[in-house]
Amino acid sequence: MNLESILFTQGFGSRRQCRALIADGRVSIDGALCTDADADFPVSDALRFSVDDVDWPYREHAYLLLNKPAGYECSREPQHHLSVFNLLPPQFAARGVQCVGRLDQDTTGLLLLSDDGKFVHMFTSPKRKVPKLYVATTRHPIDAAQLAALRDGVLLHGEPKPIAAVAADARGDHTLALTVMEGKYHQVKRMIAAAGNRCEALHRERIGGLALPATLPVGAWQWLDEADLGFLRSG
Ligand code: URA
Repeated sequence: MNLESILFTQGFGSRRQCRALIADGRVSIDGALCTDADADFPVSDALRFSVDDVDWPYREHAYLLLNKPAGYECSREPQHHLSVFNLLPPQFAARGVQCVGRLDQDTTGLLLLSDDGKFVHMFTSPKRKVPKLYVATTRHPIDAAQLAALRDGVLLHGEPKPIAAVAADARGDHTLALTVMEGKYHQVKRMIAAAGNRCEALHRERIGGLALPATLPVGAWQWLDEADLGFLRSG
């Protein structure tokens, strides 16, 4: 692939802007400055390039994980808050990265993003059931009746049948760990309300077998590698 196309596919602007970056001597590839936009390079995950001394891996598709803070909307055109895209380099929005499902603006934790349409569909399709583990802080103490209601299934407004948590466990008086398969609008908050409590704060810890890395600071992102993608699918 020529260098112009490499930059273009990775979100560095229009073809014209990519040619200009290269001609201006701002691009190195595999450690060497290259000012020829037509120079060809074999592309693979091993390819590295830099723009203005910032290193990038070449990725045919971007698979990312963000430790979402509260106060950010999972939309490119947010209504009342900042967008999670404010936390990411602009190249990702430029190459069509989107959120894999949405977290409410006040929900924190594990958010996936990708520009691979099949991947996004696979993890957002109602047909594909993927367990998602949330930890909720509740207003009232959690009791056995609430846990039983969540495990047995609660009827949410507008849903034809009750929705049951795959697992519901108290981690403390006001801390509830809840695993759900679906991704319905405000699902966890509505389930907790239907069980007779109220969700005061919500955090997503895990999707499938992929956990939010404990070392990733709030607001920070990282690439997902092959092992992470495997954990995701392994539920
Ligand atoms: N359930 C909710 O209620 N909110 C979220 O952000 C995610 C799941």
